Amino acid sequence: MTTSTAIETHGLEKTYGDLHVLRGVDLRVERGTIFALLGSNGAGKTTLVKILCTLLRADGGTATVDGRDVAAQPAEVRASISLTGQFAAVDEVLTGRENLVLVARLRHLEDPGSIADDLLARFALSDAGGRRVATYSGGMRRRLDIAMSLIGEPPVVFLDEPTTGLDPQARIEVWAMVRELAGRGTTVLLTTQYLDEAEQLADRIAILHEGRIIADGTLADLKQLLPPATVEYVEKQPSLEDIFLAITKDDR
Ligand SMILES: Nc1ncnc2c1ncn2[C@@H]1O[C@H](COP(=O)(O)OP(=O)(O)O)[C@@H](O)[C@H]1O
Ligand SMILES: [Mg+2]
Repeated sequence: MTTSTAIETHGLEKTYGDLHVLRGVDLRVERGTIFALLGSNGAGKTTLVKILCTLLRADGGTATVDGRDVAAQPAEVRASISLTGQFAAVDEVLTGRENLVLVARLRHLEDPGSIADDLLARFALSDAGGRRVATYSGGMRRRLDIAMSLIGEPPVVFLDEPTTGLDPQARIEVWAMVRELAGRGTTVLLTTQYLDEAEQLADRIAILHEGRIIADGTLADLKQLLPPATVEYVEKQPSLEDIFLAITKDDR
C-alpha cells in the first residue's frame, strides 16, 4: 500500500454497557508524522488505540491502519504495528539487552544480539544494557519498553500515554526517542493528557472529548481557535496591586 495515509477512521463507535465512549470518531494520520491524541483521563484514548491495534472491536464505523481494515484484516494490521501501553511490559529479572534479545528471538529475526545492541545505542541505553531492569529508573524502563516494541521495524507505532508517571527529565528522553523514530519515517500515534507534550512533539493534534474529535489540526490551527481577545485578557490581567490602586484611588 503506497497511499500517504497511515491511519484512517470513519465514524468509530464503542459502547461499554451504558457507557457510550466513542461516538463517531473520524481521524486521518499521514505517514511519517507524529499524531497526538489529546484527552483527559477516561476520554476514550486507550479504547481508540485498542481498536486500531485490533485488541478490541468497534461497534460501528471503520478503521484502516497501513491500508488494512482492522476488522477484516487483523493479522495484517498486527504485522504493521507495535503498541506500547501505559504499563511497561519488560522483564525485571533480565537485563535490558536480554529483554531485547528475547523479543528478537521470539520474532525469529536474524542476529538478535546486534538488533539489541543497535536499539540500546539508538536510545542511550548501551551503558545500562548489561544491568538487570530491576535497577532501571522509570524513564529507562519506558525507553526499553518502547525499544522492545520497535524490534521488527513496524511502520506504525502506537504509544499510549508514553510519559505518564515519568519525571520531567525522563519525559524529555522519551520525547527525544519519539522524534528519532519519526525522523526515520515511522508513523507515531501517541496519546497524552498533557498539552505541552502534544505541543512539543506532534505534527498534528486531535482532541478527544465526550466521544468525539472536537478539534484536529496543527498547533498553529488549534491556537487560532483561542480568540485573541481572551489571550490578551489573560496577559493583561491586573495584578493585585493594580486592583488595589484602582479601588482605593477615588478615596484619595
Ligand atoms: N472494558 C471496559 N468496560 C467498561 N468500561 C470501560 C472499559 N474500558 C474502559 N472503560 C471506560 O471507558 C471510558 C474510557 O476509557 P479509556 O479508553 O481507558 O480512556 P482513556 O484512555 O482516555 O483514559 C472510561 O470511563 C473507562 O472507565
Ligand atoms: Mg488510557
